[in-house]
Amino acid sequence: MGVAYGLKRFYITGICVALFIIKAAASEGMWMPDEKGNLPASYKKVTVMFSDMCSGVILSSDGLFLTNHHCALEAVRSLSSPSNNYLKDGFVAKLGKDEIPVPELNVKRLLYIQELTDKMDSATVGIEDEYSRNSIIESIGRSICNSIEGNSPFITATVVPYYEGNRYFLNVYEVFRDIRLVLSPPHAIASFGGETDNWMWPRCSADFALLRIYASPSNEPAYFSSKNRPLHVDDYVRVSTEGYTLGDSVMTLGFPGTTQRYSTSWEVEAIKLCENIPRIEVREKKLGIWKDAMDNSPSTQMAYSSKYAVSSNFYKYSLGMNRCIDSLKIAERKRKDENAFLNWVNRDSIHRYPYRDALMKVKQSAVEKAEEHKALSYVTEALIEGSEIVGLAWAFMDLDLRGDKEARSRFTKDKIVPFYKGYRKDLDASLLKEMLFLVQERVPEKYLPSVYDSIRINYGGSIPAYVEHLFDHSVFRSEKSLRKALRDRNIERKIVHDPVYDFAFSVRMLYYDLLAELSSSEYDRMKGKRVLFEGKKEMNPDSVFYSNANFTMRKSYGTVKGFPDNFYTTQKDLLERNRTMKKEYFLEPSLKNLYEQIGQNDSTDLNLCFISDNDITGGNSGSPVFNSSGELIGLAFDGNWEGMSGDLSFDPVGQRAIHVDIRYILFIVKNWAHSSRIYREITHH
Ligand code: ARG
Repeated sequence: MGVAYGLKRFYITGICVALFIIKAAASEGMWMPDEKGNLPASYKKVTVMFSDMCSGVILSSDGLFLTNHHCALEAVRSLSSPSNNYLKDGFVAKLGKDEIPVPELNVKRLLYIQELTDKMDSATVGIEDEYSRNSIIESIGRSICNSIEGNSPFITATVVPYYEGNRYFLNVYEVFRDIRLVLSPPHAIASFGGETDNWMWPRCSADFALLRIYASPSNEPAYFSSKNRPLHVDDYVRVSTEGYTLGDSVMTLGFPGTTQRYSTSWEVEAIKLCENIPRIEVREKKLGIWKDAMDNSPSTQMAYSSKYAVSSNFYKYSLGMNRCIDSLKIAERKRKDENAFLNWVNRDSIHRYPYRDALMKVKQSAVEKAEEHKALSYVTEALIEGSEIVGLAWAFMDLDLRGDKEARSRFTKDKIVPFYKGYRKDLDASLLKEMLFLVQERVPEKYLPSVYDSIRINYGGSIPAYVEHLFDHSVFRSEKSLRKALRDRNIERKIVHDPVYDFAFSVRMLYYDLLAELSSSEYDRMKGKRVLFEGKKEMNPDSVFYSNANFTMRKSYGTVKGFPDNFYTTQKDLLERNRTMKKEYFLEPSLKNLYEQIGQNDSTDLNLCFISDNDITGGNSGSPVFNSSGELIGLAFDGNWEGMSGDLSFDPVGQRAIHVDIRYILFIVKNWAHSSRIYREITHH
């Protein structure tokens, strides 16, 4: 931060625009589009948010876009069946009419951003209490968003806090809801290296999928209809197959989710002990149980592979983060900064008193509520997100059972049917038993949900007996019995008095109790963070600060940089791994042959993945990587093991962003999918 910058140019085709990119000597920072130099409008138009969790980039005038395979994984799974296993075998739409709609998906394209800080500040003058301040801001924000959205499902607006709550911006998006799958590589190559290689460099995976946005005949966002046609756009990217070399400037653009770069040493400790450790422990159990079942049955393998990958991804993230917190001494470093800050405060203690007070508030809230914080993590991980059936019952609590019929049938279609499609009751019952045992061991008695009393009184203290009863007697035991209950005249009694519902309810009560316990100190902490940020700015008037990630559009400037030395992989690395005979590197002969053919007639290797020091995080998955001419050279999909504490503190030495090379993507389109239709569309030839 606060370093010297040089100038670079970026282009996008369609309409070639020059972008004065500021080449950062340090790559840290997730900048808003118009910070550190304005980002031309076309960049904002080609970079989209994919299904509220990932990023993507538009490749053609017909709305074809790229995102990561792991972002589209659940969609591909939901389209798969044993006879058409697109997950395992991959999918390619031969013609436009073969592209498959995925109703759950959406793509958001940014329309504009507008600052609302002055408005929020003047509405909250003199308000000391953070809860009241937030409530006022929230209600102003909600009414602004409501007036923009009207009743349209195709416009969405959010008012988001930036810079630790010191500034507010309105973000308005158009929402496309007819999204169709165009190409998805076979799982073995898209996720080559599986969970072993996840969060690691070097990497050899083709983590991409191609989808297309469809719009109404008048080219407006729409729900699926057979009358819809590919969205026509004026802005799309030009790809470059020229590659890159060490030190080349690259820019990523996308929608990073959450970072906590301004966290204090005490918060780092709390994340490590009260969040990551419970998550690691619970998920290790859960993933072990799922894995055994998946290894024993191909159909369970298919049903659970995407759930497994999602759960394992954040498990490994927490594990890696805790390791890096220790090895990179993150808390110690933050403590050093805090001491320097306090010294600065003491030099003018009268004026700077509020800053000391803010720091102490943050410390106090992190330290004194550790027990509740930890209990909340165990309860959330093991009981709310542990057994799947509890999640379904939880969703019922927000449904009006006597409400209009349409809402109920939508609930059945969106929640119940997909739930049972990939559900194994016996597996879930075993999991719930383990989760109940674990919570009993780890959570202080005063924070156990009331269901433990019932286990003691009615089941002689036997968790297995309780769980068996639950799964034998609940209407949630099958789709059939649940749908029957929904048609019953006595629907409330059937649902609300159901043992699974009752269990979920007792967990929910506890959850709210714990949140209430934590909330007063949480508001103190938020206020502390807000004031502290201002203090840091005052202390470092020459530095430029960026805002933590918050799922809004950000760019990051970096350079292609090795770790430790190598900065790209080729088919040779892939084949070398394949020779180890590890299951995660297995390729069917026809797939293996693809790679063995490379370089047979000439000596050119195929570049698969590469790395740079751009500052990205979860949510950036599927972010375009642009070279200094504004051409697309890759697609970001991961970070490396040595930089896993990056969300708490950026590490310029060891932290890297991992990308799929566009040349690898084109190779798959050409040599695996044999689709000249798609190849020509991407390369505009
Ligand atoms: N770590 C990647 C991310 O969070 C996800 C990679 C998915 N691959 C996998 N093997 N689970 O963006």
